Amino acid sequence: MLNLKSVDASIDRIPILRDISLNVDPAETIALVGRNGAGKTTLLRSIMGFTSCTGAITFEGRNLFDIAPHQRPALGIGYAPEDRRLFSRFTITENILLPARVAGLDEAETKRRLDRIYLVMPELETLGPRPAGSVSGGQGKMVALGRAMMLSTRLLMLDEPFQGLAPVLANRYAEALGKLREIDPTLAIIITESNPGLLRRFASRMVTVERGRIDSDVATVAAA
Ligand SMILES: Nc1ncnc2c1ncn2[C@@H]1O[C@H](COP(=O)(O)OP(=O)(O)O)[C@@H](O)[C@H]1O
Ligand SMILES: [Mg+2]
Repeated sequence: MLNLKSVDASIDRIPILRDISLNVDPAETIALVGRNGAGKTTLLRSIMGFTSCTGAITFEGRNLFDIAPHQRPALGIGYAPEDRRLFSRFTITENILLPARVAGLDEAETKRRLDRIYLVMPELETLGPRPAGSVSGGQGKMVALGRAMMLSTRLLMLDEPFQGLAPVLANRYAEALGKLREIDPTLAIIITESNPGLLRRFASRMVTVERGRIDSDVATVAAA
């Protein structure tokens, strides 16, 4: 469904990613692991169209280079960046609804998606009226997941969601991902992490990024 072929990406003309090839199928949960500075964020940003890159990236048969960055989420791609970028003066609910508004989803569809988000994270419904600036860092991560879920009908990309989460919240976040997997078995998920151990239990495949390269995209099936 998502295919990258020989992708090179640079930031301010400095080459960051080199010769990245990766194929992601529906229902896969890919753990993209690599130490800080390896290029994980740049890879996700390249898929979203926020870097200048060459090679080929297709999504469900469409050339992503023909699709402007702001139009890519509407293909069914939800993205939770590393820095959550919540709008702190907006409420939690407003933050979650924002992508739906930007994508122009109608009320019925928006409500249907919001209900699925609440099914995965009931706490977001309770927190809904609070300003996003008033929640803890961990809760903010859940809000960012909810916001990404608003558009992730096909692919969900989470950039280091476990980073800095206290163990209780990390468990809660993992539980929410498990529930999401259960209600949406064909969704493709890419999660980045610097500690491979953390993702072993959900990933269907681990892909290692090192100094801007993926060693190979040969499936390293995670231990069950
Ligand atoms: N905005 C930027 N300007 C210059 N260099 C950057 C920028 N963002 C990332 N880099 C560089 O690109 C490399 C990969 O970074 P990044 O994709 O953020 O890695 P990771 O997410 O794996 O920690 C690093 O060497 C980093 O210094
Ligand atoms: Mg990163």
